[in-house]
Amino acid sequence: MEDQVVEGDGFVTGFGYVHNRLVYVFAQDFTVFGGSLSEANARKICKIMDLALENGAPVIGLNDSGGARIQEGVMSLGGYADIFLRNTLSSGVIPQISAILGPCAGGAVYSPAITDFTFMVDRTSYMFVTGPDVIRTVTHEEVTKEELGGASTHNSRSGVAHFMADDDAACLRQVRQLLTYIPQNNREDPPRRATTDPPTREDPRLDSLIPEQSNLPYDIKDLILRVVDDGEFFEVQEQFAPNIVVGFAHLNGRSTGIVANQPAHLAGCLDINSSTKGARFVRFCDAFNIPIVTFEDVPGFLPGTAQEFGGIIRHGAKLLYAYAEATVPKVTVITRKAYGGAYCVMGSKHIRTDINFAYPTAEIAVMGAEGAVNVIYRREPDQQRQARITEFQDRFASPFAAAERGFIDDIIEPRQTRPRLIQALRMLENKVSTMPRKKHGNIPL
Ligand code: HXC
Repeated sequence: MEDQVVEGDGFVTGFGYVHNRLVYVFAQDFTVFGGSLSEANARKICKIMDLALENGAPVIGLNDSGGARIQEGVMSLGGYADIFLRNTLSSGVIPQISAILGPCAGGAVYSPAITDFTFMVDRTSYMFVTGPDVIRTVTHEEVTKEELGGASTHNSRSGVAHFMADDDAACLRQVRQLLTYIPQNNREDPPRRATTDPPTREDPRLDSLIPEQSNLPYDIKDLILRVVDDGEFFEVQEQFAPNIVVGFAHLNGRSTGIVANQPAHLAGCLDINSSTKGARFVRFCDAFNIPIVTFEDVPGFLPGTAQEFGGIIRHGAKLLYAYAEATVPKVTVITRKAYGGAYCVMGSKHIRTDINFAYPTAEIAVMGAEGAVNVIYRREPDQQRQARITEFQDRFASPFAAAERGFIDDIIEPRQTRPRLIQALRMLENKVSTMPRKKHGNIPL
């Protein structure tokens, strides 16, 4: 190795400006020892990470690396551990963004895993802890790089990545776009954006968007696009757990995190993947002063052995915990169903949501009418049960019982969604809410 000296050792680090805002960047060059991390490389990365933390600006990593440089042994391993520590200490203080621009393994995937958002490029970027060769030796499985850790795998299957682009340039454009929604650090508010979209704009089409029959699907993204500024929604993890939709938008120029159940997938049920996806997004918004708007239409948690064995109790609790813990302004709109535990979880009043709206046709109950009657009136003859189901639907499958108790602040017409959300967020602009003193909580991981 001492005969192979490459200036800069294949790593470029520095700072620059995106939309006139400071960012720190490091980039790896795969043509130099596979972009692998040497002791000197690690020191270069740590230097800009320290500067970024002290100066309150995001770090963007352009990763293209085979991980710790094997020839350097523990020195390169130690270098990664130094980076992981800084990733962790910076978490929730400055945004950390990872673009994966080539084959990445070992530390080059663990460091991105601790950052806030991971971007991948279709068919040229890969992430795995161990590559196909090691897998063949150890488990005798035959798997291609693409299948194992390609952009599609991590965007749709594993949930490791948050964005996918067609090429490197498109990937960097996505990174730049994300930066427009987020603040420089946790002491700042997100940047505001000028808009000509009137804050009072009502949308009559929303009144007929939700099907009258409550078991018919609709696309929640149609609703989101009609409500937010200029119809622009920057979706995060679009391909993973599509039964929940998360992403950024502006409301009257103010950056807002949107969380929405998607009735067009699994009827909008909450399952393991959607719970962890939602929880992570809610925690990012809370850490970086981004208000959260929730659109709720959820029939409950997805039943089944796969979910129970997979630990839906533990994973569903993450979403509940994340919402309850969040102290940023929170506003919820129940567009249709809010049943059972999912009612509690999805930004209910009880877990410190500031303003809760419901559409007049919302259904808020412990469970669906049929299920409820089958439990409570299981000994009654079948003929009487139908009457009970209708009675239950009339009395409880509405937003009024919840509104009477103040769990819903107002029942609004769908067309009013945008103006009412903007009004609520404006009212909450200076919200201060604190947590009990603690070192940190113990989110059910
Ligand atoms: C030194 C490395 C290297 C590494 C690749 N190279 N990884 N050199 N240290 N970690 C070199 C190769 O020897 C080769 O050199 C050149 O980079 C290109 O690599 P190829 O294998 O030809 O490229 P490709 O086929 O595209 O495969 C890329 C790869 C593969 C999938 C990344 O190289 C690979 O599996 N590398 C090892 C990954 C790994 O196990 N890393 C250590 C992880 S431990 P020549 O001279 O032939 O061009 C770690 C600790 C962190 O990172 C702890 C985590 C908690």
